[in-house]
Amino acid sequence: MADELWVGTSWKMTKTITQGRAWAREVAAVPVPDGVTAFVLPPHTALAAVRGCVPPGHRLLVGAQDAHWSAENEWTGEVSVQQVADAGADLVEVGHSERRLGLGEDEDVVARKVRAVVDFGLVPLLCVGEPAAVRQAGAHVDHVAAQVTSALALLEREEVYDVLVAYEPVWAIGPKGAPAEPEDVAPVIAAIREAVGRSAEGASALGVLYGGSVTRDNATAMVSGAGVDGLFVGRAGWTARSFLDIVSMVGRHAGDR
Ligand code: 13P
Repeated sequence: MADELWVGTSWKMTKTITQGRAWAREVAAVPVPDGVTAFVLPPHTALAAVRGCVPPGHRLLVGAQDAHWSAENEWTGEVSVQQVADAGADLVEVGHSERRLGLGEDEDVVARKVRAVVDFGLVPLLCVGEPAAVRQAGAHVDHVAAQVTSALALLEREEVYDVLVAYEPVWAIGPKGAPAEPEDVAPVIAAIREAVGRSAEGASALGVLYGGSVTRDNATAMVSGAGVDGLFVGRAGWTARSFLDIVSMVGRHAGDR
């Protein structure tokens, strides 16, 4: 297990720049508890504004929800890793299921993006997770392990230590999702740790997080019962108060470890 616990939120396609600044000012006014690193992934449009609201040294990192793998310039409408770094990103999410399933991102694109994020010295937050049918067929552990293996295929062993992984079962995400129980999650987290070790000669990831319908009601149970190094929150992180409450729950668990 990682020494540090992580808790972050992706705003997905929500919030204006003004709304983003208001959230960031409220969250940055409160210190992140010892043993915890927090992060927020605004839409690209609000990234620089949110970064500007976080004082230097505050343990709220800022990241991007995606970035293109190419450093070349002929990709209309895309945003490169260099550009999100320039806007203030410390980390870059890669491979969320909404992009894999809704926008056709395949394993090759995910691996290239992970490589590009590492090349630029930022932390990739690699998302993996199985659809409901795969879980029902009992193939979820193999499915997720294979996603991890192919996503890390372009990295050297030492680089894997700087990768965050988030297990986000597709069936647990969003308003139509059914919250997972810690016992649904724990075996997959263990399999992710094994897959990371297998693909990188015994290396471990920076952290393995859980995401999918995390709320103030289930955050403590999930962070203490699923063998995770933290939580990756969607909707419950979109108000500053709710996000701060979840950060402080994770902080209490960090203090108990
Ligand atoms: P929800 O917490 O809204 O289910 O979203 C999780 C997620 O997809 C985070 O990336």
